[in-house]
Amino acid sequence: MPTKVQKKNLEDAPFLKEMYNAAFNMWRLGWDERNGGNISYLLKEEEVKEYLDASKVVRTIPIPTSVEELEGKFFIVTGSGKYFKNAKEDPCNTFGIIKVGERGQSIDLLWGLEDGTLPTSELPAHFKSHTERLKVDSEHRVIMHNHATNIIAMTFTHELDEAMFTKTLWQMCTECIVVFPDGIGIVPWMIPGTAEIGLQTAQKMKEHRLVIWPHHGIFGAGTTIDETFGLIETAEKASQIYTAIGDPARIKQTITDRELADLAKAFHVTPRPGIIIA
Ligand code: 13P
Ligand code: ZN
Repeated sequence: MPTKVQKKNLEDAPFLKEMYNAAFNMWRLGWDERNGGNISYLLKEEEVKEYLDASKVVRTIPIPTSVEELEGKFFIVTGSGKYFKNAKEDPCNTFGIIKVGERGQSIDLLWGLEDGTLPTSELPAHFKSHTERLKVDSEHRVIMHNHATNIIAMTFTHELDEAMFTKTLWQMCTECIVVFPDGIGIVPWMIPGTAEIGLQTAQKMKEHRLVIWPHHGIFGAGTTIDETFGLIETAEKASQIYTAIGDPARIKQTITDRELADLAKAFHVTPRPGIIIA
């Protein structure tokens, strides 16, 4: 007779710890006031099955925008309305582990969101972005959204032209072109939580891992929680420097186009074309 393998305690799962540490750090840095921000993390089936019986569904939640491409995939996601400052102390209400149901028309909650909370209201943007990133990067796993303060500030003071915005950020810190050579995507201002903002964000994710929502925040994509966090952190740092400078007329010298091209060459990255002229 086959012996039943004892499941591990989910509270000890490394992916849960990564989630609450990232959420807490985003709050600590001032990027996630109140319930601002959301994270979704694609989990491997074998990873989930160490902790959970995937056939035990707590509740099924219909989703308005179907995501056929994600059918059968497992994610850990943040709950809608959850305060990231409480994430560490309250993981079973803050996070949920879900499996995307048949034809991507619903999701099955397997663990968490115990107080009846729904997954983040930005699920359409997360799911559509995962779909697009997986097409271009088989290692892709994380979508992260927050209200990074200086990024938002810069969307008031800088032109919202993607090439110009990207170049300004690249010039603010030497590491930027190395960390995000694919540059910044920007969508127009839109109502958050809608299918439309989700679709437009995902369109940008075809070519960029960072997408700015003017006067709202930023979306980042990556292969790990750390990498995605670091990507947003680097763009936010560059925006902080831009904002600290204040009036661009005060800039006396900058990293030149030639130097940006040399940097890219030295670090073996290909900068998005059409931004530097060297
Ligand atoms: P949720 O609490 O639904 O995740 O929304 C927060 C947010 O940042 C909306 O853009
Ligand atoms: Zn938001």
